[in-house]
Amino acid sequence: LLHNQFYYVQAEPEISDGEYDRLYRRLQDLEAQHPDLVTPDSPTQRVGGEPISGFSPVRHAEPMLSLDNTYSEEDLEEWEQRVRKGLPDETVAFAAELKIDGVAVALIYREGQFQQAVTRGDGETGDDITANIRTLRGLPLQLKATAPRGELVVRGEVFLPKKAFQELNAQKQEAGEKVFANPRNAAAGSLKLLDSRLAARRPLAFFVYGMDTKTSGPLKTQTEVLSSLASWGLPVSPDHALCRDMAALKRFLSGWEPKRHSLSYETDGVVVKVDALDQQKRLGATSKSPRWAMAYKFAAEQAQTRLNAISVQVGRTGVLTPVAELEPVLLAGTTVSRANLHNEEDIARKDIRVGDQVVIEKAGEIIPQVVRPVIGRRTGKEARFKLPAGCPACDSLVVKLEEQVAWRCANPGCPAQVKGRIRLFAQRAAMDIEGLGEALVDQLVEKGLVRDYGDLYALTVEQLAPLDRMALKSAENIVAALQASKQRTLGRLIYALGIPLVGEHSGEVLAAHYADLKSLGQAEQEALQDIHEIGPKVAASLRAFFSRKEIKAVLAKLEKAGVNTRQLAEEKLRTGGLTGKTFVFTGELETMTRNQAEARVKRLGGRAAGSVSKKTDYVVSGPGAGSKLDKAKKLGLKVISEKEFNRLSSE
Ligand code: IVH
Repeated sequence: LLHNQFYYVQAEPEISDGEYDRLYRRLQDLEAQHPDLVTPDSPTQRVGGEPISGFSPVRHAEPMLSLDNTYSEEDLEEWEQRVRKGLPDETVAFAAELKIDGVAVALIYREGQFQQAVTRGDGETGDDITANIRTLRGLPLQLKATAPRGELVVRGEVFLPKKAFQELNAQKQEAGEKVFANPRNAAAGSLKLLDSRLAARRPLAFFVYGMDTKTSGPLKTQTEVLSSLASWGLPVSPDHALCRDMAALKRFLSGWEPKRHSLSYETDGVVVKVDALDQQKRLGATSKSPRWAMAYKFAAEQAQTRLNAISVQVGRTGVLTPVAELEPVLLAGTTVSRANLHNEEDIARKDIRVGDQVVIEKAGEIIPQVVRPVIGRRTGKEARFKLPAGCPACDSLVVKLEEQVAWRCANPGCPAQVKGRIRLFAQRAAMDIEGLGEALVDQLVEKGLVRDYGDLYALTVEQLAPLDRMALKSAENIVAALQASKQRTLGRLIYALGIPLVGEHSGEVLAAHYADLKSLGQAEQEALQDIHEIGPKVAASLRAFFSRKEIKAVLAKLEKAGVNTRQLAEEKLRTGGLTGKTFVFTGELETMTRNQAEARVKRLGGRAAGSVSKKTDYVVSGPGAGSKLDKAKKLGLKVISEKEFNRLSSE
């Protein structure tokens, strides 16, 4: 049953996140009831333990080279001539693949089991990013039975799909943090998170496109390599073709050039490879790149237009975001009239002025960016931009917080902030109130029907139905959706409250520690800080939030409306009694296997480590214990028996 589920989750990456989460929770429950069924490749075992202090270097078995780039078809033809010269009188076919704009990684499988993931690094040595890669939902931890035994080294590209990139940047913007310039940087940044639990929250994906020559075995062509990789269960991009000649290659290039914007991921060109592996081998490589492959880069699509004005938007947390109001212009298939300018510093750094002709480009092919002003076209009438001294929505004071680039409106009653908070409250990941979208929230606030999210539950069909774009049926649906949202988990509710710095994950962590919202609200800063994963800044933010009079009034409204404010049983289980505790097992166990014991520790929020250190909280020692026990004694650590462990970890 477990394997079926796992297989289902693996084989159907198209299932919705909600569906995935439901399956995942069911699996967690099943595993809690039957610890002996927990397998090392279960999805629940993907996220490892604590943050690490750095990545260990790993030497690549075969160097990871880079590719030569060309930007024109003429250059590509020249390369083809060189290839043909190197292979006189032979038939040469080419494999053309879209070049994914992400981060190159090598994945090592042994006996079909995922072992290790390493970044490209300098090509010779990369970083061990196994813990983060394990969290990728699309990564098979176990290959199909047809995959080669022994060691298999595959190479591919990890990327952040365009939509996820947009959402991540929107979140960062709200939090007043710096945004990522493009999906590639976002993917690279995510892989370098030292805490794999945070990396797990970034919906990274990957495609594999090759393998080490030593491991390609009987395969003859790149086309066979791709189909074999796919047949072993690895994700392979469907967007590739075998081209017999230059004409076919050109058709592939010109076909994708306009179509590339419709892909869910970012591509910056096409990689053309000599298809036959033995021909590749004979052509060989220079010290930097193979002679058998070439990257043809698409020109980044840019357009020029006039920056008519810079408006300022106010988000949920009061962050002021400058937005470029552009003379509408066609770019990469859509008309662009606005672009995010991020913050004042960015505008000054690029020296962008109102009235400038500006070059715009799509980052991630979706979000338009202002790249630079066209200085040569200045008339002298352009005006430098300064953020207003007052909030554009309510005219209150704006303040800049320490260490942040963003300015914020300091008035919690600001209508722009009120709208933002209600939108967050209704969000899918929060209270999931279907139908309560932006347009409706705007009307509710502007008409004075709600002043905060506490007022939502008092809305009636009679109030809703006459609003713009509403009718009796849709009004009834909203009231029903509000009713349904009263049963959400405590973790979702905590997130939905919009406490600065408290995201979805912190919401879950806090919900695992407090029986209800009231006890969370009364918790002292020290107690909050003691919770694993809750730092001093988040703790202070929680204290500040719950001590505000207005907040107390809003929470009272929620409670009165019958919104669930209690921890549900499943939330307690998620982070159990071993939270933050590190265990090391040594010697034999009698009532369970080592894997089962470690799985139990993790399920209860603890960490199972392989070696003893000062940070170890418990060493579980059984018959035949060796050097770990000696070391534990030397360090004066707590050594317990299996029986004591069982008592400690009883669920
Ligand atoms: S083959 C010897 N195929 O592009 C290098 N690379 O600019 C062989 N990339 O480091 C690389 N998609 O990270 C290959 N279909 C694809 C690719 C691809 C993206 C990346 C890869 C490489 C970089 C070179």
